[in-house]
Parts: sequence; C-alpha cells; structure tokens
Amino acid sequence: MELWRMKADIIHSEHGVVKQWSDTREGRMAWATEVARYHQLPWATPPLVAWGDLYIVTEKCTPILDVPLELSYRYKGELWNLIHRVNRAGVWHRDVCLVNVVLYDDKVRLIDWQASIPAQTSVPYDIYGARAAGQEGYLIDPPPDGVHWYRSDCGTCPAVYWGTGRGSTRERNGGFPLPGE
Ligand SMILES: Nc1ncnc2c1ncn2[C@@H]1O[C@H](COP(=O)(O)OP(=O)(O)O)[C@@H](O)[C@H]1O
Ligand SMILES: [Mg+2]
Repeated sequence: MELWRMKADIIHSEHGVVKQWSDTREGRMAWATEVARYHQLPWATPPLVAWGDLYIVTEKCTPILDVPLELSYRYKGELWNLIHRVNRAGVWHRDVCLVNVVLYDDKVRLIDWQASIPAQTSVPYDIYGARAAGQEGYLIDPPPDGVHWYRSDCGTCPAVYWGTGRGSTRERNGGFPLPGE
C-alpha cells in the first residue's frame, strides 16, 4: 500500500487543526491508524480535541520549523528521547521529520502518525533506519537507511536545519549524544 500518496487536507480553524482524509480504502486506513495512535500515545501527540469519521481535530501547536533556529536547538535532546519512548512503547512512526514535529506547552510532540506501525523488531526503525531494522523504507525514494530523518536531499524535510542526515546515528542526530551515552 502506498500510504505516502495519502494526502489529507489540513484546515486551520479556531478550534484547532482539522485533518481530513478522503473516503477511500487508503484514506480510511490512514485515518484509523492516526486516531489509534492519538489514543494510544497521548503523551507523544498534541491533544486530540475531537475526532469522527475520516477526520481529527488537534490542538493548534507551534511547528518546530516556526521556531528560530537557535532556539530550536534546545529541543533536540527532548525530541530524541521522545522518539526513543515511542519506539519502546512498541510503535514505529516511520515519518519522523521536522515537518512532523510541533511544540505543545513548550514540549516536543509528533504529528502525522498515519504511516506508523507496530514495532517489528527490537531495533527501532525511527532511530537506526529501515535497513538496520530489517525493513524496506516506507517512503518513496528512501535514503540508504530508509529513515526520513534529518535528510539532506529531501525537498520538504529541511535537514540542514539541525545538521545533515547521512552517516552514523550520532551524526544523524547532529552530534547530539544519544540517551545513555
Ligand atoms: N496540531 C497542529 N498544530 C500545528 N500545526 C499542525 C498541527 N497539525 C498539523 N499541522 C500542520 O500541518 C502540516 C501537515 O499536517 P500533517 O499531520 O503532517 O499532515 P500530512 O500528512 O499532510 O503531512 C504539518 O506539517 C503542520 O505544519
Ligand atoms: Mg506531515
């Protein structure tokens, strides 16, 4: 299934951000997955204000890319820890990318869970990459490790914002030490 083709509509309203999927098999799957994660991992997401058939409404947060670069650096470690916690909770997000990171109450949260799946192995996809996790990359034209994470060659993912994407896990994290290091 080519879920990456599944483009939902985003509408900013006074009550929050409405995300609406199309009434197709893929749209229904994407919506169901997203709703399930908002319920399963509320500590990792913006608050879910409302949801119904093929839509969700989330509380309006601050996209991290709207935060001035110098200020945004302070969230790096927290984001890294959040991704680890999500993976340890048994979920692979599979579209971890700064365009899918927001700040809620000054805490990092992940949005855009439609591509997430139950963790398949003990090697976390979102940290070490699809290849290390023994998976095919989820996104079209994945980088060698299959992780959409600080990519340097992606049109929408501003990898250079926090350092470039290739190389070791530590390099991928812009030189920031991994938890436990
Ligand atoms: N709760 C939110 N608060 C602020 N911005 C949001 C929120 N939800 C979505 N957005 C904005 O809308 C964009 C698209 O939402 P996303 O859920 O990632 O859908 P898509 O599947 O189209 O990438 C995000 O990159 C972000 O800029
Ligand atoms: Mg997105």
